[in-house]
Amino acid sequence: MKRVVTALIFVVATSVSAFAQSLPVPSYWLNQRGSEMKLYTITPTGDFTGLYWNHAAGFKCQNTPINPPYTVTGHASGTSVTFAVVWNNGVQNCNSKTVWRGQLNGKTLSTKWILTGNGMPPITGTDIFQQQW
Ligand code: BTN
Repeated sequence: MKRVVTALIFVVATSVSAFAQSLPVPSYWLNQRGSEMKLYTITPTGDFTGLYWNHAAGFKCQNTPINPPYTVTGHASGTSVTFAVVWNNGVQNCNSKTVWRGQLNGKTLSTKWILTGNGMPPITGTDIFQQQW
């Protein structure tokens, strides 16, 4: 009986993990503000890294051909994804940081974010990223 229960638990656990969605890496994402994110590495525990190009109107630290992208670091667990960008790429430092928290649904990553920085009130918003590849 104990063996049957153990086998059942194993089957259920493996089926659940087979259906649980996880962040695809490598991948390329575009949000509704025109910003780009490329994810390059992910560890077995879900820590990931990549690059972020900010093209959102009305914000500082805009990326141009002469302003290189910013580093993005994050963590994915099932459909939950959290990531952050510190807005300092060594060329331009905006003394600010954004944290996005969201949910993955197919090729759509829906997030809420908070932008914080020295001497400024926090700004919040939403970004929807679509996976391009
Ligand atoms: C700053 O203005 O201090 C740094 C740039 C912030 C860009 C924000 S982060 C949230 C929103 N989504 C984007 O893709 N860019 C803006």
